[in-house]
Amino acid sequence: MAKSTKSTASATQKGTASTLSPVPTLSVSLKDLPGIGPATRRNLESAGYGTLEALATATVLELTEVSGIGEKVAKKLISFAREQFSMGLKTGIEIKQEFLRRKYISTQCKALDELLGGGIQTGSMTEFAGVFRSGKTQIAHQLAVAVQLPPEKGGLGKGAAYIDTEGTFRHSRIEAMAKALGLDGEEVLQKIVVGRAHNSDHQIQLTEEALTNPKGIDIGLLIIDSLMAHFRAEFVGRGTLAMRQQLIGKYLHNILRVAEMKNIAVVVTNQMQAKPDQFFGDPNAPIGGNVVAHASTHRILLKKGKANTRIAHVLDSPELPEAEATFQILTEGIRDVK
Ligand SMILES: Nc1ncnc2c1ncn2[C@@H]1O[C@H](COP(=O)(O)OP(=O)(O)OP(=O)(O)O)[C@@H](O)[C@H]1O
Ligand SMILES: [Mg+2]
Repeated sequence: MAKSTKSTASATQKGTASTLSPVPTLSVSLKDLPGIGPATRRNLESAGYGTLEALATATVLELTEVSGIGEKVAKKLISFAREQFSMGLKTGIEIKQEFLRRKYISTQCKALDELLGGGIQTGSMTEFAGVFRSGKTQIAHQLAVAVQLPPEKGGLGKGAAYIDTEGTFRHSRIEAMAKALGLDGEEVLQKIVVGRAHNSDHQIQLTEEALTNPKGIDIGLLIIDSLMAHFRAEFVGRGTLAMRQQLIGKYLHNILRVAEMKNIAVVVTNQMQAKPDQFFGDPNAPIGGNVVAHASTHRILLKKGKANTRIAHVLDSPELPEAEATFQILTEGIRDVK
């Protein structure tokens, strides 16, 4: 593995010292919340505020509207939830410690791992954008398997949630990739929870379910393949664009919030859109505009190369240099070009 990858990995290990406060789990019950009875609790739960995470990032207005509680109680609930997650001001060193809690999932291609600064980072969102057949779904499958490897082999020893919006999840690909890594195909499939989303509403609902109640599986990775397909098909015409963007913004914000708190890696795939108004450079851009661009921590562009090779290019990242890596798609999965 490359030098930069090694240093990232060892820094990560050092950072997991006992000085870090434990991250509260998503399943924390609302029963212990101050000042609310069972009826209000049910209202909150049915409106999607059934977890401390949801309360911690809710606004007073939202809570009063959906549950009928007063402003005072809403404020109290929100601040109680925020205290549980220590969401107040932090020192730089606390931020550093939190950051070092992040881990990396190997893509099984050294060049790609190196490009990504060690692999797919937990607690943030990595976007793979590219035209058809550029390898987005193959990478998604590869990661759903790789996350299950033990940490010493580049995984997290955890399962994956796969939100499939295009009906392209294939158990046979998972089994082939698992076998190539010495894993049992059916055992690996057992630890992947798949949500086949038929429209954008369904996609949002399945994502929420995958993050809060993924059939009892300990999830280390959430995959959305693809993020924008339904939104793009359903919201046509300029008049609906603002509404679409608002909806996606909220959807992504919720995902990122849980991913950060639970230290889950989020990988989304995205299609490309021709930008007729662009005169210089690449006239194609990932769809979703600024909302998706800002939510993606690491934005990777995939391009077709010769035969089964593909080129990955860092489009935008707060910490990765603009660089390229080449990989190939084999029956075994994503691998380095020999
Ligand atoms: N079993 C396999 N063995 C080797 N290569 C495969 C196998 N299955 C698929 N591929 C390769 O993967 C490519 C398809 O990639 P993928 O499905 O990831 O594209 P994509 O970027 O998700 O496209 P789309 O935008 O249409 O969803 C095909 O060109 C094929 O060459
Ligand atoms: Mg695909």
